[in-house]
Amino acid sequence: MTTAAHLPAGIAHPFSPAGRVDPYPAYGWLRAHDPVHRDAMTGMWLVTGYADCAALLKDPAFSAAAGQRERAREDDLPVSMLTSDGADHARLRAPGARLLGPAAMASIADGVARDADDLLVRAGERGDLTDAVEQLGAPLATAVLARLFGLRDEQRAPFEQLARAVAVNLDPLAPPPLARLGRAAMGELTRYLDAHTDQALPGPLRDFAADGRLTRGEMLGVLGLAVVGGWQPLAESLGNALYWLLPRPGAREALRTADPAAAETAMDELLRLEAPIPFTARVTVRDAELPGGRIPAGSRVLAVLAAANRDPAVFTDPDRLVLDRSPNPHLAFGGGPHFCLAARLVRQSGALLLTRLVRRFPAAALSGPPPRWAATLIPRRLTSLGVALHGTGTAATGTAPPAESAASPESAASPESAVAAAPVEAARA
Ligand code: HEM
Repeated sequence: MTTAAHLPAGIAHPFSPAGRVDPYPAYGWLRAHDPVHRDAMTGMWLVTGYADCAALLKDPAFSAAAGQRERAREDDLPVSMLTSDGADHARLRAPGARLLGPAAMASIADGVARDADDLLVRAGERGDLTDAVEQLGAPLATAVLARLFGLRDEQRAPFEQLARAVAVNLDPLAPPPLARLGRAAMGELTRYLDAHTDQALPGPLRDFAADGRLTRGEMLGVLGLAVVGGWQPLAESLGNALYWLLPRPGAREALRTADPAAAETAMDELLRLEAPIPFTARVTVRDAELPGGRIPAGSRVLAVLAAANRDPAVFTDPDRLVLDRSPNPHLAFGGGPHFCLAARLVRQSGALLLTRLVRRFPAAALSGPPPRWAATLIPRRLTSLGVALHGTGTAATGTAPPAESAASPESAASPESAVAAAPVEAARA
């Protein structure tokens, strides 16, 4: 590790407008040359190597609570698992598992499958999707949360409005007027969840509320975190997945015939390649030693999960989609004590939608204007993604990931090189 390392000319800083659209050249350079890097632009430490990120996420010297605290205060984000460490964190997490853990997903899986089928039937009637995230990803994310939270059908639309409004709290670079709206929406969401909790339909939220181990405020904090941290990443992960999947007939066909376990393996690989939450923040509470270098106490640190996920020391052909990659110890869900509580839920609901889509529409293809990556930092997402479900649309050109026809999906070039020159766009309205 050298604190003097600088990105070479020609490689955009990952937080610059061009770097936000395509951060992978910078991530690759840092990982190879300075995996524990003191960033002169932000004063933060960027940790990009897999071994370093994995170690950091498990090491109590790196505090999630301190990492989130400044932001939590500033954004009025309630106390939650992500704003606590150690025993405080474990106390919140155990009951939280009743809301978001594998058993909760198992209890809603049939309902989510019906929701996915309904969505695809309606989409099929339209024929072309102008934006697959808006038309499939967002309604699926709403359906998953609606079923976890015991919402009635007529409550889905107002709930989705709130989930959209608070999503901006994820993005540390949101412009101040948007960030102010996000803060106000957080208060509104908390009041909504408070009023709703006692009237929820039977299901995971009722079980969670009956658990009795948390105060009302703590319970609302966990619910709020699930909405802020869950709704948009889940919605966008489906767009990111389709972006990689649809131009590759071999991968589409493999998913079409995949059993549920293989479909979840595929979802993991899609999340590895395009992690919707590309990094997470910590602060060192004492001097810390990582395999790639030392970080002094009191430092602000980003574990760059998206960089670790393409570390060639761990992943063979890291920039390629290998749908049956196994083992796949990616860090898209984080690691250590804060490992995403909803990982199973995300894998299963994503796999459920994607397999149904390729079975119902085996010729589905990207269409319309070339997809572009948004200049937001979190989540990593496309500004829009056209899909011709019956394969009759004009394939996107220029910035679309190249198609390949072999059964093995690994042979296609990665899409990020193709989007390197894509213009920066404002967030999806
Ligand atoms: C593709 C979608 C998702 C991705 C990529 C993702 C990723 C992550 C990551 C990286 C963390 C760790 C953060 C850290 O260590 O600082 C995390 C934590 C968490 N996620 Fe997810 N997440 C997703 C969806 C969801 C959903 C849908 C929910 C809930 C409905 C959810 C609930 C949580 C919670 C509660 C935590 C905090 C766990 C703890 O601190 O103990 N996530 N997630």
